[in-house]
Amino acid sequence: MQATLIDGKALAAAELAQIKREVNALEESGAPTPCLAVILVGEDPASQVYVRNKLLKCEQTGIRSHCYRLDSGVEQGELLGLLARLNADPAVHGILVQLPLPEQIDEAAVIAAIDPDKDVDGFHHENMGRLLAGDPDVLVPCTPLGCLLLLKSVLGDSLAGQHLVVVGRSNIVGKPAALLALQHHCTVTIVHSRTQDIAAVCRRADILIVAVGRARMVTEDWVKPGAVVLDVGINRVEHEGRARLVGDVDFDSVAKVAGAITPVPGGVGPMTIACLLRNTLQAYRHQRG
Ligand code: GUN
Repeated sequence: MQATLIDGKALAAAELAQIKREVNALEESGAPTPCLAVILVGEDPASQVYVRNKLLKCEQTGIRSHCYRLDSGVEQGELLGLLARLNADPAVHGILVQLPLPEQIDEAAVIAAIDPDKDVDGFHHENMGRLLAGDPDVLVPCTPLGCLLLLKSVLGDSLAGQHLVVVGRSNIVGKPAALLALQHHCTVTIVHSRTQDIAAVCRRADILIVAVGRARMVTEDWVKPGAVVLDVGINRVEHEGRARLVGDVDFDSVAKVAGAITPVPGGVGPMTIACLLRNTLQAYRHQRG
């Protein structure tokens, strides 16, 4: 292995410590405590783990949180009613609906029903539009924001002129990551399942962000020597009879050629949660004027 390991866990811990200091300072000034409302529908095991981690980090930083657990058979009207109440509650500053939702529920309608000022996921079309327009104050989706902080920890504050290739075109990661990189003056390419000779395009990247949800898809022949590789994937695979988490990047082979690489777990994942809390504080400050 020649690549530098990018320690997302350590960077997230530093970010959470900073958030905790800011929350403490608010408490001491007598201001209300920032509050995040999380809605979890059904029993999806991965979603339960993600939500538990988010609530735990809220507790660690002093951000108040409340989790609304709804039955998997809940009607859309009930979920929209809950969102309307949370939107109207001045003590709630951030709202997150954990995805995916059961199939009877229209995900787009639910995201559209969140007050854009409380949309700490940055998934509302108003926020996506503001990101597209280059608004520096918009709430940005947490995983792309975490990727940006990880990149700056390796490359310094300026990413100008870097050729950044995003593998995957999801609304949650691929598209917003590309827009954020563009805002930071990168030359941006998005590749996806229909791209011709995807490996050749990736080999031109100075920075490669991989978010496709396919275990170990990116191998060393996709990576330019010295490139920075961020692996967003979290895939559960069987290894010698045991379940194991691996990324979308074949870590062992890519680490031989990359300049720096994130591990899975312990890379992008912890930064995503830290950025959720950062967004909650940002939403709080905006609402408090
Ligand atoms: N499910 C997978 N990733 C995410 C995320 O970033 N936010 C929400 N709300 N749900 C998710």
